[in-house]
Amino acid sequence: MLPKLSAPKGVPEYLPPTSAEWLLIKEALAQPAVNAGYGYVELPIFEDTALFVRGVGESTDVVSKEMYTFTDRGGRSLTLRPEGTAGVMRCVIEHGLDRGQLPVKLWYAGQCFRAERPQAGRYRQFHQFGIEAIGSDDPAVDAEVITIADDGYRAVGLREHRIDLTSLGCAQCRPAYRELLVGFLDGLDLDEATRERAKINPLRVLDDKRESVRAQLENAPLMADNLCADCSDHFGTVRELLDSYNVNYTLAPRLVRGLDYYTRTTFEFVHEGLGAQSGIGGGGRYDGLMSELGGQDLSGIGFGLGLDRTLLAAQAEGRQLAPESRLDCFVVPLGEVGTKAAELATRLRRAGIRTDLSFGTRGLRGAMKAADRSGAPWVIILGSSELEAGNCQLKSMKTGEQIAVPLTDIETSLKEKLS
Ligand code: HAM
Repeated sequence: MLPKLSAPKGVPEYLPPTSAEWLLIKEALAQPAVNAGYGYVELPIFEDTALFVRGVGESTDVVSKEMYTFTDRGGRSLTLRPEGTAGVMRCVIEHGLDRGQLPVKLWYAGQCFRAERPQAGRYRQFHQFGIEAIGSDDPAVDAEVITIADDGYRAVGLREHRIDLTSLGCAQCRPAYRELLVGFLDGLDLDEATRERAKINPLRVLDDKRESVRAQLENAPLMADNLCADCSDHFGTVRELLDSYNVNYTLAPRLVRGLDYYTRTTFEFVHEGLGAQSGIGGGGRYDGLMSELGGQDLSGIGFGLGLDRTLLAAQAEGRQLAPESRLDCFVVPLGEVGTKAAELATRLRRAGIRTDLSFGTRGLRGAMKAADRSGAPWVIILGSSELEAGNCQLKSMKTGEQIAVPLTDIETSLKEKLS
């Protein structure tokens, strides 16, 4: 016997009817970005490994442990993208998009890959919807980006998410803060592995979930209290703008993101309905990334929202996203009218009425059962006597009521009933 085939471990699949919700989420999240003038980019799913090592940061878990890296037949090291930002930057630099009007505003959506331990809401292949605005450090861009994500989640129907917001400072103030933090961490009773982590990125230690470490970190110096005047002003304006847009946020001075490129405004969208994997989206500024990747020294800001987790959050809130049925109408042929029934179904589809039909020779009972199972609210019964009279029977599956309708009028009558 052939071995049973199954999808790879940690890879979710979305089938009808849930897949309809999936598509609606993608559309709903993208609309606010489209309304704000972001243009769509379709980017490669794999890139040169060096792009992610330089862009995401060698010390991150994403790069050091989670990348799907392979060598192609030409001996090149390639990696399935673990996130979208580095690829967008590469594309902007390569095609000189930053030589025109700034900021360059782009959106993207697609699969990302991280070899994480799979659990509810944490997958090895997942979908991100993201935007990036490159080439302006105006705080109004920061507020725009955060508001677009919030509006997207609201369009999906979410009401119970939270925005954690902080500023991670800049090349002026971060080094001094880093020293302050390193000095503080030196005085603590930490195990060797944590000390090693602190050497690579001391900010990460602030994110330690262990109670013994957390207790010692209570009085740790925080970046938010050590911002330079420029960063402090910038962050103040971002907050004022968000307030004026009625976007609620929580100040989260201990927020640590999993990627290394962040500067200044940094944020995470959190949903408590998801358990451990509560981050449904996140992003921030990355003012040194473009020059790090060989481009101009331009600032940028963006976010990545996890579609899989957004769907879980919508389900946790009991949101009904997709329409009740994926069909408006089901055609049942009676007797030898098969091709006419198929022709009628084609006509209705072309008129924008979602239509299916009973194929083959099922007989009336079998065909009515199929109509019932299809979930369509309306059924058209087409027999040879009806055809001769130029009519069909239109039946409501809700009330059972049935009327004769001239075939010439069927699109108009159905559209009226569906509106
Ligand atoms: P990130 O926080 O690593 O940021 O990922 C963004 C979102 O992708 C997360 O909030 C989460 O919803 C989803 N996600 C990440 N890993 C997984 C996983 N293993 N399974 C399911 N969902 C996952 C970024 O990727 C940045 N590129 C965002 C950004 C854009 N920053 C600036 N511009």
